[in-house]
Amino acid sequence: MKYFRTHVLVGINETSKQAGVDAFLKTLKKEIETAGLMDEINVLETGPLGFFGKGICITVYPDNVNYDDLKQEDIQELVNEHFLKGRPVHRLLLNAGGKFCPKFNYENRIVLRNSGIIDPESIDEYLGAGGYEAWEKALQMEPMEIVEEVKKSGLRGRGGAGFPTGLKWSFTSPIKCEQKYVVVNADEGEPGTFKDRLIMEGDPHQLLEGIIICAKAVGATKSYIYIRGEYKLSIQRLRNAIKQCYDYGILGKNIFNSGFDHDIDIKIGAGAYVCGEETALIESLEGNRGNPRWKPPFPGLKGLWGCPTVVNNVETLANIPYIIKNGAEGYRKFGTPDCTGTKVYTILGDVAFPGLCEIDMGTTLRTIINDYAGGMKKGLRFKAALIGGAAGVILSDRLLDVNMDLNSLNQYSAVLGSGAILVMNENTSIVDMLWSILRFFRHESCGKCSPCRNGSQQLYDMISKIKKGQGIEDDLDKLLLIAETMQQTAFCALGQSPIMPIRSALENFRDEFLALTKK
Ligand SMILES: Cc1cc2nc3c(=O)[nH]c(=O)nc-3n(C[C@H](O)[C@H](O)[C@H](O)COP(=O)(O)O)c2cc1C
Ligand code: SF4
Repeated sequence: MKYFRTHVLVGINETSKQAGVDAFLKTLKKEIETAGLMDEINVLETGPLGFFGKGICITVYPDNVNYDDLKQEDIQELVNEHFLKGRPVHRLLLNAGGKFCPKFNYENRIVLRNSGIIDPESIDEYLGAGGYEAWEKALQMEPMEIVEEVKKSGLRGRGGAGFPTGLKWSFTSPIKCEQKYVVVNADEGEPGTFKDRLIMEGDPHQLLEGIIICAKAVGATKSYIYIRGEYKLSIQRLRNAIKQCYDYGILGKNIFNSGFDHDIDIKIGAGAYVCGEETALIESLEGNRGNPRWKPPFPGLKGLWGCPTVVNNVETLANIPYIIKNGAEGYRKFGTPDCTGTKVYTILGDVAFPGLCEIDMGTTLRTIINDYAGGMKKGLRFKAALIGGAAGVILSDRLLDVNMDLNSLNQYSAVLGSGAILVMNENTSIVDMLWSILRFFRHESCGKCSPCRNGSQQLYDMISKIKKGQGIEDDLDKLLLIAETMQQTAFCALGQSPIMPIRSALENFRDEFLALTKK
């Protein structure tokens, strides 16, 4: 084993790839060699580093110095000043508009605990970080024992609806039949949400470990990961991780002589928002047009090709290894008693450090924005935040101190949804924001049922009229009436959702709409 004085972790993800990280890496390694530092400095390619930074980001260990937005021309200075002389290059440090980096939550991570630290393409590094120990433990447990542990942990689905995960598994587990499936929902179509991508890019083995533990718990011999085609790096890393699992005997027939067989396959989706809805996703997996199915029966009883199927979100499953390894009690130390664990957020908009972070459930929106996203961009004031994407709510500063967890938000008719937070400054038009949300719903309606097919068009026409200053005050009540009718009559949750942004926008920012309408 070779020991290095310094490790340079280079984040390889879709963002850094677009910023030219491959060429950057080549030059960095060459310059380190030219400086004669090959035996002292170790350059490691890893996943998203888990902090808010632009373009090419690196972390230097053990100095714990973070750089972002690096360019080829910065390499020489980095090598000469930092790596050779131990003097961090201040002008390149992770900062935005003069503000230095916000708090990094390295301690309280579950899902992102390896992200940016291990090489996501190496199963050995995952094993070295304690990976697959939960799987080893789960292999010795009875299926219902696993289900009970997950139930006790209090884990609730991270795909948007917040359904208790252990309870979901408990419907499928006792069914006696030849074929059951696990389907991983990696469609991630909610605007502003990209946490599942970063989880898959940063630590694909953790997701695979969660999948096989779930499969053992419910008795499934086959899993499918349904992933959007744009997630090229995630797909590549998942494929690589699956192959490594077969090579190590973690997947396949009679795994570790346990008598349990399991296979995992990847299915690539074409990026329709509705295909994230679990029954539409199943239709798409079967090779049909992605239209939702009637529920009940729920997929847990009758899903893929009519077989019992557990559908879970990527983040939900990525929590499972920690729960099994540390027990439900270990997991319940995170979050609130009613809403346990952590949440991975993607924060966008007018904050100093847009990006992702993982924080305990129950942290307030104010803390997330100020402590983890570095506050508002210089010179801008907070006006509103869209929480949970298009199917989410537009909150005003009145709710900045409400705990961000499923139950607390529920009391204010708000939702946590997928965990996307879009922060808007005081100059943002909420009418324009609602217009783009309703345009999205009109575009994504699959057309199967008339309340949504026609309702989403009517909502869009009405908000377009209001936006142009051609609406009347009564139109605001009509917007609500149409959206409420859709909520009660639309076939699936897509058409039932526009009420959320509409109601919250009108409740919190009615004056803005009134200013654009005639009596
Ligand atoms: C229009 C629509 C889009 C959805 N998109 C996603 C998605 O991209 N990812 C996801 O995990 N769940 C999505 N869901 C929720 C799924 O239907 C399902 O509840 C979820 O995958 C269950 O996993 P969980 O219990 O782990 O949260 C969507 C739901 C609707 C109605
Ligand atoms: S509500 Fe919309 S997306 Fe859902 S089935 Fe009806 S038309 Fe399709």
